[in-house]
Formats: sequence, structure tokens, C-alpha cells
Amino acid sequence: MHYFGYKSGELYCEEVPVKKILEDVGTPVYIYSAKTIRRHYKIFEESFSEVEHLICYSIKANSNIAIISLLRQLGSGADVVSAGELKRALKAGIPPKKIVFSGVGKSPEEIELALSVDILMFNVESIEELEVLGEVAKKIGKKAPFALRINPDVDPKTHPYISTGLKKSKFGIPEELAIDAYKRAKKNSYLQPIGIDAHIGSQITELTPFIEALNRLKKIWEELVKLGFELKYLDIGGGLGIVYDDEEPPLPEEYANAIIQGGKDLKATIILEPGRVIVGNAGILVTKVLYTKENILRKFVVVDAGMNDLIRPAFYQAYHKIIPIEDKYSDYEVVDVVGPICETSDFFAKERKLPKVQRGDFLAIMSAGAYGFVMSSNYNSRPRPPEVLVDGDTYYVIRRRETIEDLLALESIPAKYL
Ligand code: LLP
Repeated sequence: MHYFGYKSGELYCEEVPVKKILEDVGTPVYIYSAKTIRRHYKIFEESFSEVEHLICYSIKANSNIAIISLLRQLGSGADVVSAGELKRALKAGIPPKKIVFSGVGKSPEEIELALSVDILMFNVESIEELEVLGEVAKKIGKKAPFALRINPDVDPKTHPYISTGLKKSKFGIPEELAIDAYKRAKKNSYLQPIGIDAHIGSQITELTPFIEALNRLKKIWEELVKLGFELKYLDIGGGLGIVYDDEEPPLPEEYANAIIQGGKDLKATIILEPGRVIVGNAGILVTKVLYTKENILRKFVVVDAGMNDLIRPAFYQAYHKIIPIEDKYSDYEVVDVVGPICETSDFFAKERKLPKVQRGDFLAIMSAGAYGFVMSSNYNSRPRPPEVLVDGDTYYVIRRRETIEDLLALESIPAKYL
């Protein structure tokens, strides 16, 4: 569900015609709907209302500080994976005690920063990281609250690149080592075990993998309680899928019920780290048709956005719906929608039936609110697009378009080469 739709033949985001934004900031441009984000957050939040819980929005999905701020207004915490994301969360006003720090390769400097601002919890991903956490905590004289991220070895049945809870993946600590690691941590007075964590993958469209993971965590939790540990937080990660095409992911209520049922005996505070489900369908990438062309085999629509702006189709063969911003076409044709980048993988759609567009027409690439702008790059020396947030009848440019000067500003030519 989202607030993008046609009114009198024109695509609107909430009450703003998309075309109006294009006249102002040009293309390509990311456009987000505040109302959609609020709606998704509230539905998710309310689904868990009967239990103690904390939603830590996974900042990596869309880390614009305006978006984080909007979510902070609704009470969200943050799941961060780097010093950069931590600083974004803090800048957006997220209270440190609502921040969890995940990630397989936190540097000692990042750990120190997070400790110094008193975040809620570190989700520790290896035995060595646990040791470093203890050392840094000792150095600055603070106790480090942590959960171990368990690798529960369950198949989330999603794209292999976004499966994280399988034995062969780099994430988390194997179940067999977990208890021992907790026991060792208990001996270090600078380490404070307060929870247990798992995140098994992303764009998950079935409940079973979540339930399986939860059951594994529960087993370890119960064992730890027997050993005298006092745990408070059960962090089940993110991963709930959304509709890009014809997927049928569980509703937030169904997801919540499964987790609430599974975790209820533990009397834990449940931490959720949703990303995509909050922002995914709240954003679009609008692009202009530069050229149309054809060869014997294919017809191409060449647009001004490229894989550097939205890499998901190139990277994961991800499907994104594409619609025109004017609902005025009667002819359709099967085309490849491609970008200007010098790579064959620079496409947004392959052999897709689309309205017969012409040079100068505009297309909206849907469901681009999560892992869109955040994964963009400057490949081919292309400035990254602006981000615009619509709220009712108003819109705000929340990140301006980069300029070529911005790109060059960080580089220098040593005198030797002048
Ligand atoms: N928590 C942790 C520890 C994570 O690694 C992730 C995502 C999340 C939460 C949020 O997961 P979500 O609710 O958004 O599924 N770039 C890929 C997705 C990578 C997800 C990485 N981790 C894509 O475009 O599909």
C-alpha cells in the first residue's frame, strides 16, 4: 500500500503532481511519500502493541536524515551498521538508548564511538569482536551491553545475495559456539550480556524461516537462563518482504503474531529491525526517456537513470514495476528499459510490456524507497540524484542533486603530474 497514484491521468505522490517536482529538480530523482512511511511504521508498530518491544528501523534501507527524523517522531529507534549510520541516527535525534549496532566488521574506533554515546546494545558477530568489545570497554571505563548474533542456519528462501542466516554465510556466530561465548563474556566485568539476536535475510516472503530462527534463539535463551544469565532483549532482526511484483509476503500482523507467539514464554522485550517493509514501497525513482531504439532482436528505451542510481535490477535481477507518469497511452510494446552506463547489466527491465513511450516522456520505477539511493554510486562520473520527500501537498528537497564539481572536489593532482 502506498500513496502514489494517478489523478486525472497524471501520477501524484500524495497531493503533489510528480511532474511539478520534475519541473523543479529535474530527473533522475528519488521521490518519497511521508504518509506511506508513517502508515507502514504505524501498522508495524501496532502489530506488536501487546508485547514489550522496540522498533529499530534499519537505517541502511534508506538513511536520509529527514527520513530517519520522520521515523524518530513516530518513536522509532535505529539499527546501525557503521559509524556513519550511527552519526546519522544521532543527528536525526534518535535517543542512543534506542540504537542497536549490528554488522560483521565493526572497527575498534566504531565500537568506541558507539560505547561513548551509550547505545542500547551491540549485536556481536564473532568471538574476536566480543574480545575487542571487552578491550575497548575497559579502555574507556564503560560496560558494554551486548547480544550475540546467532547464525541459526535457516534458509530464508530469498535471493542468495540477501540470505544471511545460512551456515555458509559470514554472518553471526554458530549456535554451537554461542553458549560458550556467553559464558566467557560473563567473566569479563566490562561485558554485559543483555540479549540475543538473529537476522536471517531480507525480502523474506514466508513466515516459516522467521519461526525457525526464533525457535533456535529461544532454545539458546532458555539454556542461558538456566545458567543464570539475565537477558532482556530478543532481537529478531529485519527481513520482512514487500510486494514488488506478485509476491505475497505475510502481513505485518501475521508476522507479529508469529513472533509474539513464538517468544511469549521468554518475557523478553522484542527488538525488530525492519527496513524495506517501512520504506520500500514509499519511494520511486523517476527518470526521463532519452532515446528509443531497436535492433533485430530487441526494442530499447534508454532512460537518464542508470544502475549507478538504482542497482537492484543489475545486482539481484530484482523486479521493479515501471509506470509512465502520464496515463495517456493506448499502444504497448515489449522493451528493455536501459540506462546510459557502459555495462550490459545496466537495465531496469527486460522484455517488459510497457506503454509506447517517446523521447522526453517520464517513467516511474516503483518500490525504490529501500536500497535505492543508499546503494547509488558515481560510476561513470554521474552525479547522484536528489531526494525529495512529499508530505501532503508540500514537498521538500531532502538531498540536493550532486554536481560534477562535488565529485571532483575530493580529488587532487599531485604537482608531479601537472
Ligand atoms: N538488520 C540487519 C542486521 C540487516 O543486515 C538488515 C539488512 C536489516 C536488519 C534490514 O532488513 P530488511 O528489513 O530491510 O529486509 N540491498 C539488498 C538488501 C540487503 C539487506 C541487508 N541487511 C536489496 O536491495 O534487496
